[in-house]
Amino acid sequence: MRIGEFAVKNNTTIDTIRHYMDLSLLIPGKVGPYYEFDSNCQKDYDTILSLKHIGFTLAEIQTLMLYERIGRHTEYSRKKTYRAFFYNKLLWIEEELYRLNSMKDRLQDTLKSMPLESGHSHPQSGVPFKALPLLYCNECGTSYVLSEGQVENGQVISGKLTCSCENSLKIRDGILYGKGALHHDMCDDIGDTFIDDYVKTTHVDYLKNLFMSLQWARNNYAFSDHKDGVILELGSGRGFFLRNVIDLLSKDSLYIAVDHNPRSQAWLKESLADVIGNGNILFLCCDFKTIPLRPESLAAMIDATGSSNYAFEHEDFLLDSLVDLLADGSTIYGHYLVFKNFAFNSIIPEKSRKWFKKESVKDQLAVLGFNHLKEYETSPISQGGPRESFFVEGEKIFNYLYIGKLCR
Ligand SMILES: C[S@@+](CC[C@H](N)C(=O)[O-])C[C@H]1O[C@@H](n2cnc3c(N)ncnc32)[C@H](O)[C@@H]1O
Repeated sequence: MRIGEFAVKNNTTIDTIRHYMDLSLLIPGKVGPYYEFDSNCQKDYDTILSLKHIGFTLAEIQTLMLYERIGRHTEYSRKKTYRAFFYNKLLWIEEELYRLNSMKDRLQDTLKSMPLESGHSHPQSGVPFKALPLLYCNECGTSYVLSEGQVENGQVISGKLTCSCENSLKIRDGILYGKGALHHDMCDDIGDTFIDDYVKTTHVDYLKNLFMSLQWARNNYAFSDHKDGVILELGSGRGFFLRNVIDLLSKDSLYIAVDHNPRSQAWLKESLADVIGNGNILFLCCDFKTIPLRPESLAAMIDATGSSNYAFEHEDFLLDSLVDLLADGSTIYGHYLVFKNFAFNSIIPEKSRKWFKKESVKDQLAVLGFNHLKEYETSPISQGGPRESFFVEGEKIFNYLYIGKLCR
């Protein structure tokens, strides 16, 4: 029979049969231009299968079959040869089993040494007391005062704050809610496997740039200069930045993670539950434009793509309206998405494009009074992932990182 029929009969592919022929495991005769597979080929094929089933590699099968074909053994010497091959294989399998069992034991010991405590064994974190004097109503210019609340370990877990004009802020499950927080139902659920899924579905170039940026931030952001100061992050999102630097934060500083997405804030707070016990993080859920903080209360602002994210939908530069929150001499750590070029079908509206250009961002920061200290940029890339759907064919995007000091 011809090769196609032989492959079908043996429930395999023509490519597999050809591969076996290349290795001389199958040696069909030829009739005219065609290979002809006979009962000897079938016998060889059955031998290959049975040897594969007991763990022989194709290279080992090749040796065994050549030996068999060339040696022309008597039944006695044939058995002797096979026994030697099988015996060696058995020894190898025993060694492998020993190696795998040792690996299994080590894995079991490692698992035993890292028991999963239930999420509730951490004391619940809330709004740190030291954050309360900073809360301020931008409409009436007065402080917010806690009017009711449940307090645990010096942190407010639930409660209500009001100012003179009766605006109010709510604290629920340790998160402070202000104006402009999105409605829960408008936001996507974030599962336990978020980071896994993100890594699997995002292009490796994008992940590499994210990593390079986080690493540069870690090595260059001077958190030790803000030991007892207030640091605010615009758009804490899923916390890639915060997780990367959390061990560098001083216990006397206050880190305010701002995001209008309540699910994102709840997820981030929960995922950091075991490292935020000392009450130096405030999760604030509100719009960037209505952050209820006293002017000049910040020692540093982290803008890890918060402004870029805002610029997707707005024409103004976000920091224009937030610079008043920063004290004189404070630091901006900016992390901007910038385009090398815009395609004709770019999703960035003409009027916002300047906030996606490195020079315009840098110039505007100078206009706001920032003295440029350091900068860094990643390589331009052209692909993101389902959560970074702003890439249009022909466009190249990179991350521009900027550190500057405010001099009023
Ligand atoms: C790209 S993410 C920031 C990533 C984050 N810094 C990190 O390290 O993972 C931008 C975040 O800004 C938030 N955001 C966008 N517009 C906002 C607004 N007007 N007010 C408050 N948060 C906003 C989004 O919900 C999103 O989580």
